Amino acid sequence: MSALYQRGASPDYENLIHVDRVHASLYVSDEVFHDEMERLFYRGWTYVGHESEVAVPNSYATKPLGLQSVILTRHEDGSLHVLHNRCTHRAARVVDAEQGSGARLQCRYHGWSFNLRGDLMTVPSAEGYGANFDKSGLGLVPVPRVASYGGFVFASMARTGITLEEHLGAGRAAIDQINGLAPGGSIALSAGWMKQRIKANWKMIIENQVDGYHAPFTHGSLIRANRRFGSYRDRRESSPAKVRDFGMGHSEIDHASDYRDKGNTLRWSGNIEESRLPGYVAAMNAAYGFDEARRRMIDGPPHTAIFPNLFLAEMAIMVVNPVSAGETIHITAPVMLKGGDDLNIRTLRRGEGAVGPAGFIIADDIELSELAQVSAANEQPEWLLLARGLHSEQVHADGTRTAGLMDETTQRAFWRQYKKTVGVPS
Ligand code: FES
Ligand SMILES: [Fe+2]
Repeated sequence: MSALYQRGASPDYENLIHVDRVHASLYVSDEVFHDEMERLFYRGWTYVGHESEVAVPNSYATKPLGLQSVILTRHEDGSLHVLHNRCTHRAARVVDAEQGSGARLQCRYHGWSFNLRGDLMTVPSAEGYGANFDKSGLGLVPVPRVASYGGFVFASMARTGITLEEHLGAGRAAIDQINGLAPGGSIALSAGWMKQRIKANWKMIIENQVDGYHAPFTHGSLIRANRRFGSYRDRRESSPAKVRDFGMGHSEIDHASDYRDKGNTLRWSGNIEESRLPGYVAAMNAAYGFDEARRRMIDGPPHTAIFPNLFLAEMAIMVVNPVSAGETIHITAPVMLKGGDDLNIRTLRRGEGAVGPAGFIIADDIELSELAQVSAANEQPEWLLLARGLHSEQVHADGTRTAGLMDETTQRAFWRQYKKTVGVPS
């Protein structure tokens, strides 16, 4: 057993997290996982869901918030709420369905029913509680702070703390970027979800999402099927694409720098001619004017991790829901652009090929994460390295950092914020 990690003892984050390496126990320890839930997923801002999932009044969706279940609702007056999915009578889970609609949420245990703001509306045979029974204090308990930015809904179980805008900081640009790719200015997660249960720590998955180093190897079979491996790797090494640390734990692979260099639109959707998507291109031109539409269609979508659990995965949204130190549920939804119908059909087909359980890309990433999880439990070696590009990354006046496509600036961004949050006791 390492001197740095003793099972059952409080983790010593100061010595487990360094700028250039992190200790393997952080991926396997139950104590660490407990601290992450309390200090990060509950105390901070966590992504819950998207406004488009409750697009109409009297609709709702159940979501995990850390290890707890919450209900994202839109009340009949149009307001959004995030409520604890736990009956105030005897603790039953009120809603089981992932999505639904109706003006009332009725508990199946004894039939209490609530409106979509959480107010307790009816109690069967309420006279049994006596004349002074007061329903007003028995509504579903709201999560104390809920806020949304650009349609993305976040919640915090802490009554006080920084605002969502402060938490998102420069990372807001990624949400603006995906919305700005829609002729209608917004996206919808209306095409369903894929869910995968992965036997790996949630951090393995987040770190992989913004890793610009692994692709030639992890995805080698796909690359070899398409083009010559050697030239692909060479192109990545000399690519003008960058990685960026936005601060607050958010980071990205910025493919736009590469796309701008090449100069043509739609490289991010399989590098097709504009004539393949006439409806989308015309709608973008009409919405933004030719020059601005062209700029947006060259830059494409973000490839950005929003700390701690949301990934804007180009034309998909991915959410990482931790289950335990060694298990995670990974959720993927294709991004449907408002006003982009012909592109949306293409996005669906590309998503099926790339990111599903039988897809060409994410299945490879998940297999690597699961294998790394198994060996992270080995006692030796103790460290995972994060040093690539440390000597050469640029720190800018606004605090953001950039480095080459294959540098580990993005992983360092995650761990810097992690240490500030999980590493600090309540
Ligand atoms: S536990 Fe919900 S009505 Fe009794
Ligand atoms: Fe990958």
